[in-house]
Amino acid sequence: MAPSPARLLLLVAALAAATATGSVVNTPFPAGYPSPWGSGASEGWEDAYAQAREFVGKLTLVEKVNLTTGTGWEADVCVGMTGSVPRLGFRGFCLQDGPLGIRYTDHNSAFPAGVNVAATFSRDLMRRRGQAMGEEFRGKGIDVQLGPVAGPLGRVPQGGRNWEGFSPDPYLTGVAMAETIQGIQSRGVIACAKHYILNEQEHYRGNVNVKIDDRTMHELYLWPFADAVRAGVGSVMCSYNKVNGEFACENEWSNNYLLKNELNFQGFVMSDWGAQKTTLGSALGGLDMAMPGDGTGPPYFSFWGGALTEAVLAGKVPEWRLDDMVVRIMAAHFKVHTGNYTSRPDINFSAWTKQATGPLHPSSNHTFTVVNEFVDVQADHANLIREIGAKSIVLLKNENKALPLNKPKSIAVIGDDAQDIPGGPNACPERGCVNGTLAMGYGSGTAEFPYLISPATALRLQASSDRTAFTNTPSNWDLDAARAAASKASVAIVFAMATSGENFVVIDGNAGDRNNLTLWNGGDDLIKAVASVNPNTIVVLHTVGPVIIDYAQEHPNITAIIWAGLPGQESGNALVDVLYGKINPQGRSPFTWGKSVADYGAQLMFKAPNPAVPEQTFDEGVFIDYRYFDKAAVEPTYWFGFGLSYTTFEYAGLKIAVSNASSSSSASGLTAPAPTYGTVNTSAAANLFPAGFQKIFPYVYPWLNDSSANVATGTGPNISSFPAAARNGSAQPVLPAGGGAGGNPGLYDVLYTISATIKNTGEVAGTEIPQLYVQLGGEENPFGVLRGFDEIALAPGEAKTVTFELTRRDVSNWNSTSGNWEISTREKFVFIGSSATMIRLNSTLPAPAGMTWAGA
Ligand code: NOJ
Repeated sequence: MAPSPARLLLLVAALAAATATGSVVNTPFPAGYPSPWGSGASEGWEDAYAQAREFVGKLTLVEKVNLTTGTGWEADVCVGMTGSVPRLGFRGFCLQDGPLGIRYTDHNSAFPAGVNVAATFSRDLMRRRGQAMGEEFRGKGIDVQLGPVAGPLGRVPQGGRNWEGFSPDPYLTGVAMAETIQGIQSRGVIACAKHYILNEQEHYRGNVNVKIDDRTMHELYLWPFADAVRAGVGSVMCSYNKVNGEFACENEWSNNYLLKNELNFQGFVMSDWGAQKTTLGSALGGLDMAMPGDGTGPPYFSFWGGALTEAVLAGKVPEWRLDDMVVRIMAAHFKVHTGNYTSRPDINFSAWTKQATGPLHPSSNHTFTVVNEFVDVQADHANLIREIGAKSIVLLKNENKALPLNKPKSIAVIGDDAQDIPGGPNACPERGCVNGTLAMGYGSGTAEFPYLISPATALRLQASSDRTAFTNTPSNWDLDAARAAASKASVAIVFAMATSGENFVVIDGNAGDRNNLTLWNGGDDLIKAVASVNPNTIVVLHTVGPVIIDYAQEHPNITAIIWAGLPGQESGNALVDVLYGKINPQGRSPFTWGKSVADYGAQLMFKAPNPAVPEQTFDEGVFIDYRYFDKAAVEPTYWFGFGLSYTTFEYAGLKIAVSNASSSSSASGLTAPAPTYGTVNTSAAANLFPAGFQKIFPYVYPWLNDSSANVATGTGPNISSFPAAARNGSAQPVLPAGGGAGGNPGLYDVLYTISATIKNTGEVAGTEIPQLYVQLGGEENPFGVLRGFDEIALAPGEAKTVTFELTRRDVSNWNSTSGNWEISTREKFVFIGSSATMIRLNSTLPAPAGMTWAGA
């Protein structure tokens, strides 16, 4: 795994330079930046906008408000539900977690977690997983799937929810976001890119103020959201934390300036549950849908609902802003309802009961009826789950051809993590405990398992067909038993795990985030005990991210290490497929495995210096994960992108063709002024509860409470706290980096086509994951950043050409002075290899047409 000589030279050069990182700068945008109104002028949105505008034009003021506001926590059958428009037969939107399958239902699948699908480095599997999840959500009548996740990105390895997302590499995460979103939305379900943005840890997530510089924002954390917008995502969920001083759900910079102007996002922004803080701040700061809708006191028990109606009547929220919220919501709805998916299925489940009958409105204990129809939406998705499970397995070590197994004489399976979960796979609510095998993390990003094939079960079955003697020793704590079992077997397979999740579940003192990077339930001691007696010890890890495993890498008796991540319901079967060589592993590590927490540079904030006003500065800049290890010259146990195969590959013939793309044009000009739709009756009297209406407390409604409602002053913070500019609906300048979905269309022009030949030089068929890294030059840039990958399936002896396309964005840096992406004049290099450091081919990158490099 030694770096190539060329790489070493460059590394030395990079290290000789100063190590300054981006410091926090004021973000360049005018105060009171108005929330951009959707134009519909973006590929795939035009028709949806036409339909949305027509629909919204028919609505009354309260009908509009009703579609923007959740009805309250557990007020309806979904995890979130908006009000409806009964007059037009339009039911409210049903929003349901989560990123790896449907939460709180039955007869659904439990897919591999995001971190696993990232490890496949397979666009095809990312897409097919999205499609399959979309089919399941649609089958239950859900309108919005609350996923996928690009925030947390994975700034720190202990981040509790990293596994819900994909990888700390923004390029890999961006590809996974785009494929997942297009998969989900192709099945008539709106995807939700979350959590926007900088929600990088669970500790203090509700009030931490994250300070970040403009460049780091663009090059790291915003990057995958740009891909999500470019992929046409219908909704984005703003996060709990503050960004440079303002809560994310009322942040003019992140929502209005970056997401809706620069990235030209045409869909709607919903709040994370309870992340909305004020009526006006959120409305003017870019929020379009309040979730779950309740959460404050009288008179409306909601920041929106009747309070928003009041604010519009008082002129505090301009009518155009309300119209824009609803047009955005309805456009997302019409966008996904095309082709085979024009109808809208009924909701056929309740998240809040497993019984067939129950209340339609649980928080009010009201309207008992059949709520669960137990619709089976699994189809044949188990096959895909098994395939992703196997193809996401990362083979980290394989000495003496320990793997694949071939009818071994005897196997000892050891460890709790190999076992069936006592009481069934869903015994612990929110997967919030650790008995038995780990196949997903904990918190809201979970789904109910239909079943869970444990490794012990699958291995026992394989052993029986091979006539292999099989023992199973479940205890992690009885080390004598573990040693006794291991010493008698020709192969000892020892299992260990580490989980994490969302902060409302605390396991063994881990409040979402992991307290450390060691294995749980004494896993390290168990591995060492087994390895002390068996010279053919195979370690299998089910972990949410990296763990400290250098001792296993070095241990002579540990012949193989496998990372199986969080594989979902087919865990054991997928593992057997790889252990026995039915599938040749293609998984590559989507994160770097440090030897200590300190190795990672950036640290999780467990204790804020001032807990009342927690604050964090991301002053490591773009240097997280492998980019930091490279810069600090810290050798990890395993690098990002690393993974072995049962065969070997040879790389040759690097070719670089420079395209004749026109030089990037900056966007310019003005938007149209803010439109309004239909005419609404703005008298207070027209917006009161209808006579005789039966309220059910605490359901959230859009009407004014009574005619004495103070429409003159409205609710929420005083109007004076908002510069008038925030309500300015006149034509606005398009930002230079904007002008198209995901930013300026010129950013996505292909500037280079790079190819190489990959040959399978071993004896079995296998899939190589060639990775392309670019060094953008200068000490402010990482040694290399991932900018391309592919999966190339090769028969023994077969060779194929792999082709990568590098776009203008791929070779640009963000310039916070000009507020635009720029290709610097620093000489650039390209590396192709099989991990972030196993570089097989490298070259300088010729300067693009019309440019010359002016040195490193
Ligand atoms: C809070 C979580 O942060 C979010 O991911 C989830 O979608 C909502 N709760 C709804 O459960």
